[in-house]
Amino acid sequence: MDQKIECIVMAERKNLPLDVKLGRSRACLEIGFGNGEFLAFMARENRETTWWGIEMSRACVLRARRRIEREGLSNVRLLSGDARFFLRECLAGESLDGIYMNFPCPWPKKRHSKRRVSSGSFPSEVARVLKKGAFFELFTDEEWYGREVRDGMIAHPDLEEALWQVNPLRPVRTKYERRWLEMGKSLYLSRMEKRKRTAGGDPHYLGRAEDVHVRVQRRGSAGSVLKELFGREGKDGPSLWIYKRSYSDEGKCTLLETVTMDGDFEQKFYLLVVEEEEDCLVKIAPYSTPFLTPAVKGALMGLAGELERSAL
Ligand SMILES: C[S@@+](CC[C@H](N)C(=O)[O-])C[C@H]1O[C@@H](n2cnc3c(N)ncnc32)[C@H](O)[C@@H]1O
Repeated sequence: MDQKIECIVMAERKNLPLDVKLGRSRACLEIGFGNGEFLAFMARENRETTWWGIEMSRACVLRARRRIEREGLSNVRLLSGDARFFLRECLAGESLDGIYMNFPCPWPKKRHSKRRVSSGSFPSEVARVLKKGAFFELFTDEEWYGREVRDGMIAHPDLEEALWQVNPLRPVRTKYERRWLEMGKSLYLSRMEKRKRTAGGDPHYLGRAEDVHVRVQRRGSAGSVLKELFGREGKDGPSLWIYKRSYSDEGKCTLLETVTMDGDFEQKFYLLVVEEEEDCLVKIAPYSTPFLTPAVKGALMGLAGELERSAL
């Protein structure tokens, strides 16, 4: 019988940074785990390590969850989202013993290069979250991409090249690995190690959206005000928000669909307005909790401001 393990973690509901070891001696991360074969194999073979996986595709997360549950692997945790955001916002410095990335899409066209998971500040975030002596490993079917990532990584003062291998034998094969091997492609494994501790502190971690609310002095229906906000945009530096449709239960609660952008990090969620005796409570609807980024705060405060103004 399947053993029930809740392996999916919603980082946006946790106090950040995450406790990654969860009582074990080590913690490792796989970025873009696909259907989870590699993660499950590593977790089976290394029970004293907590294995984290982050995937952009929700379908992959659900498929991997079935595998993890079927195999009864209590040392795996899965996250849904963009690894670049996760590294930057959710992890403490020097918290991981290893990071693996198997066959990420290389986005070969120049105009798509920003979509590469390894783009932007990725090398410095990897260097920050790795412990001294820990490693980052990339397995790819594109030699140019392997070299590009390796060169970007070792340009960081704390990371050094430790391995470059062509067609290594590994104890587990992923779906994409099998696909490329069937096509007769060569595969490239590179490993970078962190040789010294990173200077400088951690970022200021985001709080939890569900802990934030604002009270606005107003009496009377908020529903009509929220309807009028459809399409209204707000901006604060690189943070952007836009209000969409509102849904009222004809009683005391109104939901306002909201989209935010922090740089290129997009979130969709609902703001909730609850009308009380003397005032209104504005908060983020509990079932759609986003990360509490500056744009999310801006959207919440912007709505509170609109409600207050319309009450005058
Ligand atoms: C080509 S597949 C490889 C899957 C698996 N590692 C394998 O070897 O079979 C690349 C995977 O990376 C995921 N991915 C792409 N960008 C990502 C990002 N920024 N953060 C997390 N996952 C990402 C994609 O959703 C996709 O499942």
